[in-house]
Amino acid sequence: MQEKEKFYITTPIYYPSGDWHLGHCYTTTVCDAFARFKRMNGYDVFFLTGTDEHGQKIAKKAEEAGMQPKPFIDGLVAKLKDIWSLMDITYDKFIRTTDEEHISCVQKIFEKLYEKGEIYKAEYEGWYCTPCESFWTESQLVEGKCPDCGREVSREKEESYFFRLSKYTDKILKLYEDNPEFLQPKSRVNEMVNNFLKPGLTDLCVSRTSFNWGIPVSFDKKHVVYVWIDALSNYISALGYLSEKDENFQKYWPADLHMTAKEIIRFHAIIWPAILMALDLPLPKQVYGHGWLLIGGDKMSKSKTDKIKTELVHPVALCDRYGSDAVRYFLLREIPFGSDGIYTNESLLKRINTDLANDLGNLVNRTQAMIEKYFGGTLPTERESAPVDEELIGMASGLYGKVCSAMDALNVPEALTEIFRVVQRANKYVDDTAPWALVKDESKRARLATVMYNLAETLRIVAVMLKPYLTKSPDIILGSLGVDASAVMNFDSVKTFGVLPLNVTVTKTPPLFPRIDIQKELAEVEALVLAEKKEKEKKVEIKVEEQTQKPEISIDDFAKVQLKVATVLEAEEVPKSDKLLKLRVKIGNEERQVVSGIKKAYAPEYLIGKQVVMVTNLKPVKLRGIESQGMIICAENAEGKLAFLTPEVAIEDGSEIF
Ligand code: ME8
Ligand code: MG
Repeated sequence: MQEKEKFYITTPIYYPSGDWHLGHCYTTTVCDAFARFKRMNGYDVFFLTGTDEHGQKIAKKAEEAGMQPKPFIDGLVAKLKDIWSLMDITYDKFIRTTDEEHISCVQKIFEKLYEKGEIYKAEYEGWYCTPCESFWTESQLVEGKCPDCGREVSREKEESYFFRLSKYTDKILKLYEDNPEFLQPKSRVNEMVNNFLKPGLTDLCVSRTSFNWGIPVSFDKKHVVYVWIDALSNYISALGYLSEKDENFQKYWPADLHMTAKEIIRFHAIIWPAILMALDLPLPKQVYGHGWLLIGGDKMSKSKTDKIKTELVHPVALCDRYGSDAVRYFLLREIPFGSDGIYTNESLLKRINTDLANDLGNLVNRTQAMIEKYFGGTLPTERESAPVDEELIGMASGLYGKVCSAMDALNVPEALTEIFRVVQRANKYVDDTAPWALVKDESKRARLATVMYNLAETLRIVAVMLKPYLTKSPDIILGSLGVDASAVMNFDSVKTFGVLPLNVTVTKTPPLFPRIDIQKELAEVEALVLAEKKEKEKKVEIKVEEQTQKPEISIDDFAKVQLKVATVLEAEEVPKSDKLLKLRVKIGNEERQVVSGIKKAYAPEYLIGKQVVMVTNLKPVKLRGIESQGMIICAENAEGKLAFLTPEVAIEDGSEIF
């Protein structure tokens, strides 16, 4: 037996944000359609997805939740896997960048690149936000301030390792020239060439010392590997590259298709090939940068979800309401090849009604109903053909070839359009042949049976061809035609027309996609989304209320509290405490020591020289054995975000506050 050809396809690895929406499902659903399609075409498929778990952002989120990063992320990863199982995603492996095999592979890659002189040590210079412990580039700053928290940034240097990306400008240009198929769609090539390659690549910072939630550089432990070498290497670590068990690497690398979205195409089409070249590894055959699913014109990024007024976007809610087939169909059909698609509640409902209910659902329904009504469910074997049959039979038998061409061109919507052309043609065939007239003429029994057979057989071909895209209804359709759907593992049966037995028995099924009353449904969904929003807002309100419910006091009570302006002279961490900082402050002529629970929000150096508001007549207390002579006034919101209060303009310390 001839060995199967392999096909290795990957999604990007997902940040464990927890705020997943329909847009996130796009990449993975498209990959799933390709994986299923290739499997049915006889390929030995390896379909990889996973999660991108390192970095400061996620470490911070975990800390805010009062958890260690790994267990915190475990919960989110479980949620993501639930979404994939709901969407019927058939990945072969789920890689996590916190997996042992990935960590050790990345460390070996880093060592190898360092030994080869592809990575060198130098200094990284950038704008640093102390409370966020983050470096930003000039262009990332918002009005010269930290884009995350809006606070002042300062110019700082940090020792870092760099990857010699600049060396690869010409090699990447040549890669695009020699392999016009490498980067798809073609428009992305111009983007890469004009924006990055023509100006010349600069070396890439690939390590950090300012945080530690990452993979330690094995030979310099104060560094962790920064972002892209960690994240991109998943595509080979998952196959066992540089490990003892590297059969999968031997078998599946290079990737046949890296599916990514357009905002991360630079990493996949420039940085990744350069890293692979530096490792002397073969390059992926193709990288595809798809467009975005836009919500009323916006990419559904987290920062923009607030603007989404009434769109139902959560994959779980959508699958519950409409079924995963409808959601998959929408994603695969609605985003045109290479460009963006728009999601609204209405665009989804229209797709469901037009294509799934009116075209496909209707064809299934009427074919079943007519065969039941005219022949009691089982067709007689007599046949009588007519010229009108030919176009339908031709289209149905030619469908496989058309779908293959569209898929080879990575054009999934086109593949679906071809399938639905046949569905539409079959519906028209019913009108052309007018079975309701044929049934009245006893001499037309054979003709009527032929018409019914052609419809059933067309449906069979359509159902098999739909299997990579929809995962539930094709099997129901095949079942109703007496075909054992679980035995349909490939496309062999769709290359000829006439595979169903002449005396096929057809059974009725409940409607696959009941027609939706769009206006009514829109109103319901809007009410639902708004109610959810209100519920969320209420929760925040309650939290704020809980904080502020204190009994009324008189002005005399308030006057008992002495508040003064103080200047921070020294600040240091309290050992073994994740909350406390020990400060030395000046209040006029006096100096004091204060212990304050603000470590979460402020790095000690940041506080030095800052003016704060202090309660100066509090009875001294010992915190962790250290005396605190007073208290610094802070604000804290419902999410635990902290900020100390400071005079609006600089004022002498010791000044009274009343
Ligand atoms: O980028 N429309 O992860 P991620 C279409 N960890 N696709 C969308 C989308 C939308 N509205 N929103 C998100 C990362 N996606 C990195 C990748 S790879 C070595 C590292 C897609 O969680 C997004 O473009 O931000 C990407 O393909 C996927 O969801 C994961 O995005
Ligand atoms: Mg992203």
